[in-house]
Amino acid sequence: MKYGLAQLSTAHRLDAGAEYDRVCVCAYAQRKKMRVSSVRASLSSRLKPSLPNQPLKFSNISSAPTPVRLQTPLFLNPADYRATLSDLKKWHLWARGLASSVGTKFLDLDNGPDSALLHRELNWLIEDSLEDPITLLSDNSDDSLVVPLRACLDDLYMLWNQRIEGRRPFQYLVGCEHWRDLVLSVQEGVLIPRPETELIVDFVSDVTKENEVLREGLWADLGTGSGALAIGIGRILGSCGGVIATDLSPVSVAVASYNVQRYSLQDRVAIKQGSWFEPLKDDEGKFAGIVSNPPYIPSEDIGRLQAEVGRHEPKLALDGGADGMNDLLHICNGAASMLRPGGFFAFETNGEKQSNFLVDCIGSQSEGRFCDVKVASDFAGIKRFVTGYRAG
Ligand SMILES: C[S@@+](CC[C@H](N)C(=O)[O-])C[C@H]1O[C@@H](n2cnc3c(N)ncnc32)[C@H](O)[C@@H]1O
Repeated sequence: MKYGLAQLSTAHRLDAGAEYDRVCVCAYAQRKKMRVSSVRASLSSRLKPSLPNQPLKFSNISSAPTPVRLQTPLFLNPADYRATLSDLKKWHLWARGLASSVGTKFLDLDNGPDSALLHRELNWLIEDSLEDPITLLSDNSDDSLVVPLRACLDDLYMLWNQRIEGRRPFQYLVGCEHWRDLVLSVQEGVLIPRPETELIVDFVSDVTKENEVLREGLWADLGTGSGALAIGIGRILGSCGGVIATDLSPVSVAVASYNVQRYSLQDRVAIKQGSWFEPLKDDEGKFAGIVSNPPYIPSEDIGRLQAEVGRHEPKLALDGGADGMNDLLHICNGAASMLRPGGFFAFETNGEKQSNFLVDCIGSQSEGRFCDVKVASDFAGIKRFVTGYRAG
């Protein structure tokens, strides 16, 4: 897998088995078991009264929202539509046929989904669209039965046609993505969060466990997209900790704000529109941590991406300039003055070449302002992340 971010897979819904993400899925499923206890712990800590120190207040510092039409995830829609089981079965047969007709055509062309993955996605579409998916999948039901649906039958035909003929990503069809223990709203204009990025939350969890200053401090998520990292981190910080997340894209700002609200984190995660550090100027030197998964695909590679990614995901989220390093270098340069001494950073890259380049730049240009700088691998063993601390 050459471009981790650029390859899109739905395999991390938990019944997955697709070749591409097998490593990620196994690791994810294993970690999921362990994670239940940590989620409970973080929820219970949020229920405790605040510590006597000043909690960070965010509700009054978020930027005014830019009007954006938000897409409600399909599974959250009321089941207001009706179809007979017989008509639904016709749609299902048609949709299965279309998925089967793909074979390995997309896989061979650009590492896209094969029929097996598309069949699994079809089952997930049924799960999200029907109140009782078993009705459709069981042979025993009466065909004249009227079935409640979350989208009308015409829309289900249209959506599945968009998936196969238009290579529209499955996540945009259903308006959500499963990421860690979250179900995040996504739509066109917002990058679909990838499984490898989940590891950044694990890094933050590790460094905050034994360090109260980091746990109760102010964090930044630069280029937040759907708000995935900001929300993941917001849920593991202590009661005085908080996150400010920035993005240049008004759609990302709107979707991230919606996701923050859905997880009732408005008091600890603020979303601000603007370029990288620009909305954070007031807090220069105060950050306990900075994370970012910026655009890092070299411009000339954008045209060769999987169709789901190259045709549908926002260029603003992908294109990192000639060698893909423009934003990574900008963020790395700015981090030294934004972090407090002892503050932690974690940045995602395209892989080994970019990670090593970033580490070299930090070594040669930062004049000792960073320490303990390391490269860390993702689930597939790709050297994907650079982490470190602001020297004390
Ligand atoms: C690779 S995506 C990552 C999104 C999200 N953090 C994630 O991991 O799913 C990069 C994000 O950076 C945002 N971005 C691009 N240029 C930016 C800029 N100059 N300032 C702030 N955000 C920017 C994009 O809109 C996009 O949401």
